[in-house]
Amino acid sequence: MNRRVDVLHGVNLDALGRRDPAHYGELTLTELEVRVKRFADELDVDVAFFQTNHEGQFCEWLHRAGENTDGLILNPGAWTHYSYAIRDALEVAALPAVEVHLSAIDEREEWRRLSVIRDLCIGTVQGRGADGYREALEMLKEALAK
Ligand code: DQA
Repeated sequence: MNRRVDVLHGVNLDALGRRDPAHYGELTLTELEVRVKRFADELDVDVAFFQTNHEGQFCEWLHRAGENTDGLILNPGAWTHYSYAIRDALEVAALPAVEVHLSAIDEREEWRRLSVIRDLCIGTVQGRGADGYREALEMLKEALAK
């Protein structure tokens, strides 16, 4: 049976396509999800997509993730940099997770360089645009095969 990975997008990711293309590319969130679904099909991984602008909702998805899925790809948007609530919820999920950012957060403003979830993740991919999600799926597939 294929492994299942949930892809969780956080605050403002629903505005992709209207955000600075120099950092985030031209794809809308729906177009990005289509791309990620294609990567997942190629890798024989099942994916499900979620996006919210509400931090509590994001936490609740993480609380329940352990019941339905094998691994997580997280792009929490700006919450990455300060949400200890999401960090704690990720600990509750207790699943292998990869943090993905479309932009190179370590090369942008100082405040983006801190990720409060990074050390809970098996990997981080940043600055690779949509292709970063393929790398994250590969990392999870490998981790889940062990
Ligand atoms: C982001 C980077 C964050 O700093 C930013 O707040 C976002 C998107 C990215 O995908 O590059 O909303 O997570």
